[in-house]
Amino acid sequence: MRGAATISDVLVRIASSGAIGIGIAAALLLALRLLMPKAQRGKLRLPVALLGLHVAALLVRLPLDPASSLHVALSVVALFLLLTALGRAAFLLVVDLILGVRLGRPLSRIIHDIIQGLVYAGVALITLRAAGVEPGSLLTTSALLTAVIGLSLQETLGNLFAGLAIQAQRPFEVGDWIQIDPDPRLIGQVIEINWRATTVLTNDQIELTVPNGTLAKSTIRNFTKPTAIARRMIEVRGPYEVSPRIVEQALLGAVASAPGVLLAPPPFVLAARFDESSIGYQVNFFIEDFARRDRIDSDVRQRIWYAFHREGIAVPFPTRIVRMAEAPSESQARSEADERQRRLQSLRVVDFLAALPPPLLDRLATLSKTCSYMTGEVVIRQGAAGHELFIVQSGEVSVIVGREGGSTAEVARLGPGKFFGEMSLMTGEPRSATIQAVSDCELVKVDKGAFHEILAAAPGIAEKITEVLVARQSALDENVSVRRARAGTEEAKTTALLEKIRQFFSM
Ligand code: CMP
Repeated sequence: MRGAATISDVLVRIASSGAIGIGIAAALLLALRLLMPKAQRGKLRLPVALLGLHVAALLVRLPLDPASSLHVALSVVALFLLLTALGRAAFLLVVDLILGVRLGRPLSRIIHDIIQGLVYAGVALITLRAAGVEPGSLLTTSALLTAVIGLSLQETLGNLFAGLAIQAQRPFEVGDWIQIDPDPRLIGQVIEINWRATTVLTNDQIELTVPNGTLAKSTIRNFTKPTAIARRMIEVRGPYEVSPRIVEQALLGAVASAPGVLLAPPPFVLAARFDESSIGYQVNFFIEDFARRDRIDSDVRQRIWYAFHREGIAVPFPTRIVRMAEAPSESQARSEADERQRRLQSLRVVDFLAALPPPLLDRLATLSKTCSYMTGEVVIRQGAAGHELFIVQSGEVSVIVGREGGSTAEVARLGPGKFFGEMSLMTGEPRSATIQAVSDCELVKVDKGAFHEILAAAPGIAEKITEVLVARQSALDENVSVRRARAGTEEAKTTALLEKIRQFFSM
């Protein structure tokens, strides 16, 4: 207590001495200007202005009678201005410069604000004492004043202590994604925690300021802790006509290829409900980039639509609508006929099918199916088993081969009229490459049964396809780092493959 009084006396004496006080403040400000990074020098404006005002007050006081009350008042004001300038400059030096460098990062906003507040409170107390007012006696002699200050500070102090508790317990930090309100639109990223409130920025770019006292009483969901990985869940309805196993496979295939979805922990599907007209599925997957969650959810939903469309899984409408509407089945039949017609046109331009007699081509169009894929979707995965041949009807796909060591290389791009998937279909071997859609595309899918029927009717096709197959095989061999041992001439390879195909299809 005695020490504090001595320090305040010394400060008052320095400040009142005029030149010495101004000299110290000016030296401190000059040192700060030299030491502070350029971007932070704006902080010096306030203490410089206060020092300027102090000098102005001294100049105005000069001609006045020292005994006059105006002289006394100006002295107190000048003292206050100088002490505030000194306090602010000392704060910048100790807290921003020295402590900032020592800690290797800026002090948390709330501690920063509290120290600054204490400095200003100290300046106010010293000025009051110098003016002959004992601040302690002010509070004790006026019970009313004490009550007024106590009541008005109640909430502020509550927020201050709640803010300190947040700092100590750290349920969240700046940068974390949190939810305080049940409304999911108010989920936001913490951008500041200060002595009064915490500010979060939502995905709608709305700043939400929550008083620390309110936060202390709320349940906080932190999506960034304990790790940045968060689970998302999308509800999808599937028809009763398709088994949950098949729907699950389609959903998992769709989710896995969506950008932003993590492969570990793996996505999973729950058959959650048997509803009136549909089975309710919950598609669960994990993401790391929480800020992009809406975009990722949307990508997953789009891929689910494509996967369902390909597999012929209809998203069920409420039963009432389905029973009342006869027209859709007619229009459905019409659109199926249109699709068959478009398939027929696409098949006609495929080189190895060009020689097929029209009835056989017609039959192939009937037996095959049109599948749509969106950009980025994987049609075939290298190493998987496969029993279908695909013909590109529209769009473009990329043929990617995985090398030893994990790298990949694109070996070809296939557009309308080109085909792929013939190797596994014809030899029974695992898929030799990955095929990925590079634009939205429509593919004609021919399964083994349909292909067998056409092959039996026109055995010459096998030879034509085998030629392409051998050429592609050579391109593949060139692209993998360890060349597979495939001895013999092109001719010998073609003959051996043809034999294999004939055996595979029991021709
Ligand atoms: P399949 O092995 O069944 O599955 C992957 C497909 O990629 C393969 O059949 C071929 O149709 C296709 N493919 C492989 N290599 C090439 C290549 N070099 N050029 C074009 N397509 C290829």
